Amino acid sequence: MTSSPRHILITGGCGFIGSNFVRYWLDRHPESRVVVLDKLTYAGRRENLQERWGQPNLTLVVGDIGDQDLVRRICVEHGTDLIVNFAAETHVDQSILGPLVFTDTNVRGTHVLLEVARELGIRLHHISTDEVYGHIRDGHQSVESDDLSPRSPYAASKAAADQLVQAYAITYGLPVTITRGANNVGPYQYPEKAVPLFSTNAILGEPIPVYGDGLQMRDYAHVHDHCTGIEAVLLHGKTGEVYNVGTGREMTNLEMVDIVLDTLGADHALVRHVTDRPGHDRRYSMNVDKLRALGWAPTYDPRQAVAEAARWYADNRWWWEPIRSGEFRAYYDRQYAERLAGHTS
Ligand code: NAD
Ligand code: DAU
Repeated sequence: MTSSPRHILITGGCGFIGSNFVRYWLDRHPESRVVVLDKLTYAGRRENLQERWGQPNLTLVVGDIGDQDLVRRICVEHGTDLIVNFAAETHVDQSILGPLVFTDTNVRGTHVLLEVARELGIRLHHISTDEVYGHIRDGHQSVESDDLSPRSPYAASKAAADQLVQAYAITYGLPVTITRGANNVGPYQYPEKAVPLFSTNAILGEPIPVYGDGLQMRDYAHVHDHCTGIEAVLLHGKTGEVYNVGTGREMTNLEMVDIVLDTLGADHALVRHVTDRPGHDRRYSMNVDKLRALGWAPTYDPRQAVAEAARWYADNRWWWEPIRSGEFRAYYDRQYAERLAGHTS
């Protein structure tokens, strides 16, 4: 697959990775026309692309990927030749507090996109996650052919979506591809996620709530490298295939916290070990050789990625201060008040 798609529907384009991808793609492929379909949930924010609205080849439609008539109408009106599906409910902790919306969007929403793609003969690229592989034992790195073994409501909904996408390739011959990303960090990540939460708490001098012993392992990859990985698959990937996207290198959460605090010059005494996340996956780790074989390589080391992300939050208070003073506060109290009151260190 080498020709560059021109009329692209990007779902979830106002979220963290989606907005980074829209910006990246439009810069690299100015001949493309992009329609963003986004429900603008709490995590979807117009300001993530604020300097881009008004650009003639970028259109925003506010709506739900589960609205089949709307998705069909957009695709027909805009002559869509590719759907890239970022839209999802994405936070594991939110999926523990309120799981049903994860099934609505991540499973049913993806299914609706597949149905429209099948009806109109459109290629679909689906954005998935390393969480579908579940907890990874020491010494192993997930490869794309591994069994899926999700352990949270979020991960289970993403795994179900992956399987629907693959079933449409097998049953209907729909041209699909899937990328499974590692933990992304970078600009415009909603501050419920660990790196932006810890960075903004450190800047505000608030406690840093580390779940359990903090020795869980994650591959903290810069969102830029995720965008280049997706581009590589869109341009050179084989339909029907899955590609892992990450650095292939993990660190513990405590190492990540040290990088954030050191980068921001914050006091390490802010760290609090609090009650762990139920079912917390101890380790994710992926082998990314299949994507490398397409000519892609990550440009950031995970340590650099975390440090650069922390600096972005220090330099862009305009973006996160209004979020943190709004509805986010109610979530924060629900998630952390009791944990921080009874912290274990
Ligand atoms: P995010 O939560 O920042 O953004 C999600 C976006 O989807 C928001 O703009 C939101 O408004 C939109 N959305 C939610 N429900 C919708 C619906 N029903 N219809 C239309 N739009 C809807 O998420 P993110 O971190 O940018 O993740 C994007 C994708 O990448 C997700 O599919 C996620 O599972 C996957 N992923 C994320 C990471 C990560 O580290 N953040 C890693 C691997 C994979
Ligand atoms: O691995 C890919 C996944 O990465 C994506 O599919 C998800 O959409 C994305 O949210 C992310 O999931 P995680 O649960 O790994 O990321 P999160 O930023 O929530 O947490 C990172 C690690 O930090 C994890 O081990 C849990 C821990 N953590 C998180 C929070 C929010 C804490 O210790 N304290 C916290 O307050």
